[in-house]
Amino acid sequence: MAQRIGVVGLGTMGAGIVQVCLEAGLTVIGLDGSVEARDRGVAHVRRGLERRVTKGQLSESDCAEALGRLRLAEDIAELSAVDLVIEAIAELPDAKHSLFRDLVRVTSATTILATNTSAISVTGIAEASGRPSHVVGLHFFNPAPVMPLVEVVRTRLVDEAVYRAALDFAGALGKEAVPCPDTPGFIVNRVLVPMLNDAVRTLAETGVDPADLDRALKAGAGWPMGPLALIDLIGVDVQVHASEAIASGLDNPAYAPHPLLRRMLEEGRLGRKSGRGFHEYPTT
Ligand SMILES: NC(=O)c1ccc[n+]([C@@H]2O[C@H](COP(=O)([O-])OP(=O)(O)OC[C@H]3O[C@@H](n4cnc5c(N)ncnc54)[C@H](O)[C@@H]3O)[C@@H](O)[C@H]2O)c1
Repeated sequence: MAQRIGVVGLGTMGAGIVQVCLEAGLTVIGLDGSVEARDRGVAHVRRGLERRVTKGQLSESDCAEALGRLRLAEDIAELSAVDLVIEAIAELPDAKHSLFRDLVRVTSATTILATNTSAISVTGIAEASGRPSHVVGLHFFNPAPVMPLVEVVRTRLVDEAVYRAALDFAGALGKEAVPCPDTPGFIVNRVLVPMLNDAVRTLAETGVDPADLDRALKAGAGWPMGPLALIDLIGVDVQVHASEAIASGLDNPAYAPHPLLRRMLEEGRLGRKSGRGFHEYPTT
């Protein structure tokens, strides 16, 4: 199994994925295009592991040992010796295509290249990379250290042994690895993203209080958290980009993000990460 892991993009998902890999005993090299985001990501990983210590799930020495297996890269070339790269940068096709071309340039011919995209075509990323046989989707859920599911996305171009190794890798992380074809939104987001858009539509059309909408879905439909709070956790930007990708992938404008979400994105009301979305959050 892959032992040396590169994680590119240390935001919400990348930091969580780093923590999962460290907890599984793996060595991780993290890379982010922004120094501030990188520092925030490392602080996020540290907090996540320290929370395990507080809960008695990890000893102080194991926490320190795990953090010692995380190295930070300044340049993509430092990923040359990893067995597997997990990309968790912004949900923008051009940025991902360009990154995968660079990853193919710097890594070995056997390195598995995985994208954590929510809704962009993995086949498109594989084709753009120039090494489509080694590209898969490893779609973690937020927060990655807590959510059990990883959708392991298969394209028609992937090498069978590479795909099997990716499935085994997700399983070895202790995750529920679910094989999944490369269709827009895969399984969960194909269902969930339109439901979240419907919640925003209901909010905009009825004028219901956001806290009441969330309370109603929790108490009446058994949701563990309200849909608006969930969008705040996911990120309004991610919800907008995921909706756009599903709408365009299925060629169906009904899946497009609600205008209220676009307005929030323009205003920088991104949810938890900006301190304000549908609800307000203390910034740390
Ligand atoms: N947020 C979620 O709930 C969620 C869940 C599953 C999957 N995803 C997917 O994971 C990916 C990341 O989402 P996120 O919510 O963590 O985003 P985020 O905005 O929190 O983090 C993205 C990070 O990538 C960095 N970055 C951007 N371009 C880069 C580049 N070219 N090279 C290196 N670093 C770069 C940014 O500085 C930032 O730190 C997206 O594809 C998203 O669709 C998100």
